[in-house]
Amino acid sequence: MSTVASTRTALPTGTWNSDPTHSTIDFTVKHMLVGKFRASVPTFSATLVVDDAGSAKLEGTAAVASIVASDDNLTGHLASPDFFDGERYPEIRFTASSIKVDGDDVTARGDLTVKGITLPIELHGELSGPAEDPYGGTRLGLDLTTTFDRTKFGLDFNGPMPGGGFVLSNDVKVTRPARARPQLMARVLALSGSLRAGSHSTSLLRHAAARAGDELELILYDGLRDIPPFDEDSEDDEALTAPVERLKRALRDADGVLIATPEYNGSVSGVLKNALDWVSRPFDTNPLRGKPVAVISASTGSFGGVWAQNDLRRILGTIGARVLDESVAVPNVHTVVDGVGEIAHPGTSDGLAELLQALHEELAQERLKATA
Ligand SMILES: Cc1cc2nc3c(=O)[nH]c(=O)nc-3n(C[C@H](O)[C@H](O)[C@H](O)COP(=O)(O)O)c2cc1C
Repeated sequence: MSTVASTRTALPTGTWNSDPTHSTIDFTVKHMLVGKFRASVPTFSATLVVDDAGSAKLEGTAAVASIVASDDNLTGHLASPDFFDGERYPEIRFTASSIKVDGDDVTARGDLTVKGITLPIELHGELSGPAEDPYGGTRLGLDLTTTFDRTKFGLDFNGPMPGGGFVLSNDVKVTRPARARPQLMARVLALSGSLRAGSHSTSLLRHAAARAGDELELILYDGLRDIPPFDEDSEDDEALTAPVERLKRALRDADGVLIATPEYNGSVSGVLKNALDWVSRPFDTNPLRGKPVAVISASTGSFGGVWAQNDLRRILGTIGARVLDESVAVPNVHTVVDGVGEIAHPGTSDGLAELLQALHEELAQERLKATA
C-alpha cells in the first residue's frame, strides 16, 4: 500500500456556498462533569471566496432561533437570556481574517460574534475535494472545529454540583460533522444493566444497533440474568460459573464494549455491578483489561443517570478497561425511547450515533497500532 502526500497550500479558486442539506454546526459542553450536553444550529450559511491570487475570505452567519437540543426545555433555555438571548441577538457571525492551508489541514483565524460580543477565535480542520458531483456541480469539503470559553461571550449560566464543580463547563466545543468512516469491521458487545423487558437502557442499545452501520456489528448480550451473586468461595465452581465464563468469552471475542446502565439509587444497577465483579477476576487476565468501552446512562429523572455513569466509569477504570471520554446521558428517558428502540428525539439518536463513531474510531486506531 502506498499513500501520496498532498502538498497544496491554497484553497481552490472560486465562490463556494454552504450546502444546507449536507452541512451542520454542532456543539457540545461538558455536563455534570461526566456527560455531554449537545446541540445543533441547523440554519446557517457560509460563503468562501478564493481569488486567483489564492487569497480567501470566509464568512458565515447562523440563526440563534434554529438552535436545537435533545429536549424541548433545553432548546427553550438555550434561546433565553440565560444563554443566547435570541430575541436581542438573533444572529451568530464568523468572519475569517486568515486561512492557512497545509496539504489537507486548514487553520482559519477570525472573529466570532455571539450575543453582540466579538472575539478572535481559531478553527482547525480538514479540506477535502474538490470533487465532481453526479449533478454537474463541484463539491468542496471544509470540516472545521474550535473550542472557546462561552463565558467570554456572556453565555455564563451555570449551577454548582453538590460535590464541587459546576453543572456546565465553560468550554464549548464546536464539533466537526460526521467524517468518512475508516474502513473497519468491528464487533461490539452491548450490555444493558436492566433486566426488565421494557427497559429503556436496553432500548437505547437496540437503537444504537440500528444506527451502527455496516462497519460495526453490535451484539446485544442476553445472559446477565443467569449470572449468580458474586461469591469468592464459588470462583472455582464450574457449574455455577458457566454463565460467567460465557460472558467472559463474549467480551474476549468483542473488539469493544458498549454499556447502558440505568441509575438505581444514585449508582449503577446491582445486576451490572455483579457481572463486572465476576469478569474482573483474575485481574491480570480479565477480558475488560485494555478493552475500549463506551458508556450510556439513562434515567427517568432530569439528570440522565450521571451519578450512575460516573460510578460506572470509575468501576470500569478500576477493572482496567479503556473508557472513552465520549458518553451519552439520557434524561427523562421514558419520553425519549420506546420498548423497541424507536427514539423520539433526534438529538439523542445522533448522540448515540456519534458515540458509536467515537468507539469505531478508537477501534480503528487500536487495529492500526496492532498492525504497525
Ligand atoms: C430501584 C430503583 C432506583 C432508582 N433510583 C433512581 C435514581 O437514583 N435516580 C434516577 O434518576 N432514577 C432512579 N430510578 C428510576 C430509573 O432511572 C428508571 O426507572 C429507569 O428507566 C430504569 O432503567 P430501565 O428503563 O433501563 O429499566 C430508580 C428506579 C428503580 C427501580
